[in-house]
Amino acid sequence: MDQYDRSFYIYDESIISRQVKILLDNFPQFEFLYSVKTNPFAPIIHFAALKGFGTDAASVEEVIISQKAGLSYEKIFYSTPGKTRRDIEKTIDKAIIVADSYNELLLLNDIAEQKNMNIKVGLRINIDFAMDSGSCLSSKFGVDENTLVKQKDFLNSLSNIKIVGIHVHLRSQVLDHSRLYQYYERIFELALFCKEILGWEMEFINFGGGLGIVYSLANDAPLDVEKLSNECEGLIRRFKDKINARLIIETGRFIICEAGQYVTRIVDIKESMGIKYLIVEKGLNGFLRPSIAELLMDYIPEDSNLKASEPLFTVKDAFEFMIPEGERSVFEKVTIVGSLCTATDIMVKDVVLPKAHIGDIVIVSKAGSYSYSLSPILFSSHSLPFQFYLKTDGEICMK
Ligand SMILES: Cc1ncc(COP(=O)(O)O)c(C=O)c1O
Repeated sequence: MDQYDRSFYIYDESIISRQVKILLDNFPQFEFLYSVKTNPFAPIIHFAALKGFGTDAASVEEVIISQKAGLSYEKIFYSTPGKTRRDIEKTIDKAIIVADSYNELLLLNDIAEQKNMNIKVGLRINIDFAMDSGSCLSSKFGVDENTLVKQKDFLNSLSNIKIVGIHVHLRSQVLDHSRLYQYYERIFELALFCKEILGWEMEFINFGGGLGIVYSLANDAPLDVEKLSNECEGLIRRFKDKINARLIIETGRFIICEAGQYVTRIVDIKESMGIKYLIVEKGLNGFLRPSIAELLMDYIPEDSNLKASEPLFTVKDAFEFMIPEGERSVFEKVTIVGSLCTATDIMVKDVVLPKAHIGDIVIVSKAGSYSYSLSPILFSSHSLPFQFYLKTDGEICMK
């Protein structure tokens, strides 16, 4: 019975497959890494691996999940700030490690020396480029591009590690193809600099993530993948004789966001001071992102140019709410709230939907990325939502 009452996520493989195909068709010269943090549910990683994707792993656990999906050392890139000695010792033989600081390079060298290993690593660089405009911003990620020359001797003195690749990631959810093109162009220039001036053998250039999807039907224009693809072809023609390296793009939301739906059930309906509340089984403790958007709107004036704060918040009108069993002939303005003992447990305010009854389900769209794993599912000791994966052949997997 629990199976039917509990809120759940469902991920549709046919949509993931459609998105993967768009990338593989348009960027044949690139390799792709699936960013596990976006959604670590095993069937998704298995499917991406089957399609030739490697992984962008941001923790020891994500490296192990990637290995369990059958990925080899060369396909797993472990990149995150603040790796500990233990993290590195656990992953040094499982993934290509991307160092995030000069201290980490020293630590890596020390561990490699102790283990009598010679390893190739990448370095994450805070590139001198800003996705919006203006100049490079301070960042906790990587090392600043303008410090590299000063560190050249130090970098070449490391006895047991060799830097053979760079990793750059500035921002997620970019919809402007020309900005992504300029960003990729700058990364190519940086890679050439690392090869020619610093003397690194460049085996890979990891351009990071950023491929965006439409959240706001009213305001977002979709990323023009074809245009970006043509621009990338031109770039690769320009640089291919100068640099011969694996070209890598990371992506999470582009392939999984729209494939996921969050489903919860209306467990009570009430009115207070003229507002009609639909109380669902799990609100923010099942799917946090819609509630964060509502919460922000309470504090920010309507006309403010509120910037996205990924991955918690993108835009206010990112999610569609549906009540498939509602009465089609009667529409009502409702506020959908969860069952937690906190007033902030609001999924959406003042939305017009078909008239609902207790027991009807509520479906929320765009729940594939940064959803289950980013929600406070342990809050108030409620049961956890289920996760299901609907394969193209109709089979449903839970794990
Ligand atoms: C280093 C890195 N790569 C890739 C991604 C995934 O990016 P996207 O959300 O654009 O798919 C992230 C997301 O935070 C990231 O931190």
